[in-house]
Amino acid sequence: MKNNNITIILAPLQGFTDVTYRNVFSDHFFGVDEAIAPFISTMGQKRLKPSRLKDVDPQNNKNIFVTPQILGNIPEDFIFLADHLYEMGHKKINWNLGCPHSKIAKKMKGSGLLMYPEKIDDFLEAVIPKISSTLSIKLRLGRKSKHEIFKVLPVLDKYPLDEIIIHPRTGIQMYEGISDHDAFDKAILNTCHKVVYNGDITDKKSFSMVEKKFPSVQRFMIGRGLLSNPSLAEAIKNIGSNQDPLERLRNFHDDLFENYKKIFAGPGHLIGRMKGIWNYLGPGCFKDCKKPLKNILKSNSIARYEEMVDKMFLP
Ligand SMILES: Cc1cc2nc3c(=O)[nH]c(=O)nc-3n(C[C@H](O)[C@H](O)[C@H](O)COP(=O)(O)O)c2cc1C
Repeated sequence: MKNNNITIILAPLQGFTDVTYRNVFSDHFFGVDEAIAPFISTMGQKRLKPSRLKDVDPQNNKNIFVTPQILGNIPEDFIFLADHLYEMGHKKINWNLGCPHSKIAKKMKGSGLLMYPEKIDDFLEAVIPKISSTLSIKLRLGRKSKHEIFKVLPVLDKYPLDEIIIHPRTGIQMYEGISDHDAFDKAILNTCHKVVYNGDITDKKSFSMVEKKFPSVQRFMIGRGLLSNPSLAEAIKNIGSNQDPLERLRNFHDDLFENYKKIFAGPGHLIGRMKGIWNYLGPGCFKDCKKPLKNILKSNSIARYEEMVDKMFLP
């Protein structure tokens, strides 16, 4: 039976799920309904370089509905960027309150702001009346403690938000340990907003588990699980394909590689990007891939990379 009631959102993964990836992905695989783009940082209010907004240009994002994400903590700068995005056609914006990296968190951005609910309050009070778009927020349980969210949620309740996306880990946890389902459950009970679940959905079994545990949730965000297995959303939604899985993956890879060739100037950057993807795709889609994957990751020229990829795809 098709699982039609749920929405699957491709997570923002800086360095991975850019516009090229999103477009090529949706040319080859089904089941992903929406995406949030990797964050764009606020950078003052000088003239905006078009290159910073290229990733979310609606002209290039026709396949999957995409919401831009902003990282920042200065209301005026956020409004400035949100206004530009609105003029480009974006009626929805997402605010990043989850980024775990200490360099960012130390500046009270991303998950670093979760320790200061009063600053979040001031920010939203200044921003919400001034932006034309609607807002959603992606957050973690806290920066240092999983209890911080329970001081943040009452603040978020004061404002109209499209939804909140919770990744149930703390910032300092980065991606260690497992997603805290008990804390997520408690969070759902302590907010008036619609909640999106995000974290560690890697296969149909882990999806079914969260779907069962949180029956009020209908929107699920998946990041690394989709990088590892691009047909994961199809599996979750029981969308079948007659095509040979290996051939499909090969076509996806080749298309991605060709499109990245047009973007990355040097072979180092191009291969670097593809290696990043292989770190997920290799273990996710290929049995006994250790040696061929190691060879792909060691390759330092395009010719060698292509040779090693051919070996990986040998049936
Ligand atoms: C390499 C990488 C880059 C990420 N970039 C972003 C980002 O730009 N914005 C954001 O909100 N989260 C970002 N995240 C977090 C993911 O969106 C997601 O919350 C996290 O990976 C947990 O979901 P998953 O277990 O389905 O991957 C990133 C995660 C990784 C691993």
